Amino acid sequence: MRVLITGVAGFIGSHLATRLLNDGDTVIGIDNLCSGIEPVNPHVLFHRNDVRSLAIYPLFQGVEVVVHLAAKNCLVDCLDDPVETAGVNVSGTANVLEAARRAGVRKFVYADTSAEYEGVLGFPSRVDHIAPRSVYARSKRAGAMFCEAYQEFHGLRVTMLRYFNVYGPAQDWRRRIPPLMSAFAISMLKGERPVIYGTGEKRRDFVYIDDVTEFNLLALKDARTDRGVYNVGSGINYSVNEVFLALEDLLKSGLWPIYKDDLPGEAQVTLADIDSERRLGWQPHVGLREGLERSVAYIERTVLGESRSPSRR
Ligand SMILES: NC(=O)c1ccc[n+]([C@@H]2O[C@H](COP(=O)([O-])OP(=O)(O)OC[C@H]3O[C@@H](n4cnc5c(N)ncnc54)[C@H](O)[C@@H]3O)[C@@H](O)[C@H]2O)c1
Repeated sequence: MRVLITGVAGFIGSHLATRLLNDGDTVIGIDNLCSGIEPVNPHVLFHRNDVRSLAIYPLFQGVEVVVHLAAKNCLVDCLDDPVETAGVNVSGTANVLEAARRAGVRKFVYADTSAEYEGVLGFPSRVDHIAPRSVYARSKRAGAMFCEAYQEFHGLRVTMLRYFNVYGPAQDWRRRIPPLMSAFAISMLKGERPVIYGTGEKRRDFVYIDDVTEFNLLALKDARTDRGVYNVGSGINYSVNEVFLALEDLLKSGLWPIYKDDLPGEAQVTLADIDSERRLGWQPHVGLREGLERSVAYIERTVLGESRSPSRR
């Protein structure tokens, strides 16, 4: 299969690319490297480019499936810069859809988000009831609506994946407010107190990257997912304080968190309903403890370097 991935240097894209290459597929990758943190797999046919550029059009020739992951996706950055956010997440998505249409691509996988459920108070979240509130969530919704239009009027077979809190090796730990697991583990391994925004009682559905990659593969290869919207979560949630305690149990740092003012626009609870995803034959396999162990091993090896890792009790 010839698959084109936008955002291929990012967290989810880099894992998917490597898995597809291992399966013998051809991967064409686009990324402007504005936040990609891992070297792109050398077997990816890589093009450093912006998804808003017309120069990406020729790259879609002969492509069977497009997986559109490139996005501006840090909530606070999106709030600070709505114009850039709309440019990348809305115009960029429209440009990728148009490139796909002109090249006759049949299947399109869109990276949607659990932020679509921000204003919905019933749990677990089902795909048919959404209420995006933040600039980020609304920009992803607008991108999703362009996907729906291309599906309706141009016959593109779209699958939308609402990722919940994906974590694991190669998660973007460099951003202004890094994702929770990385931020905690890096601080604690450095001997610094981790920062919790708010009371720590927000609950998140964390899903490990390998389980996400499995669902991505299913979405792009299984025609049953055409025209479908899916939650990619674990179906279990943990509070931020519980994640801290699980990490502390692992690292024995003896460090207590610093609580700071809450961040604007974040949902209090996320929890995926994954019944229909299970019916496709998929289910999450990696639990929190194992996922944290693997994430910490990556951070020690890659982010901090073995020599700087404090020995654990
Ligand atoms: N990771 C999660 O927990 C999560 C949750 C919900 C939704 N998502 C969505 O999944 C997708 C992938 O997320 P991720 O965690 O891999 O993010 P990431 O930030 O690690 O990767 C995104 C990649 O897109 C690239 N990119 C950004 N703007 C670009 C542009 N204008 N042109 C070309 N490339 C550009 C970046 O350089 C980066 O490599 C995003 O669309 C995100 O909104 C992720």
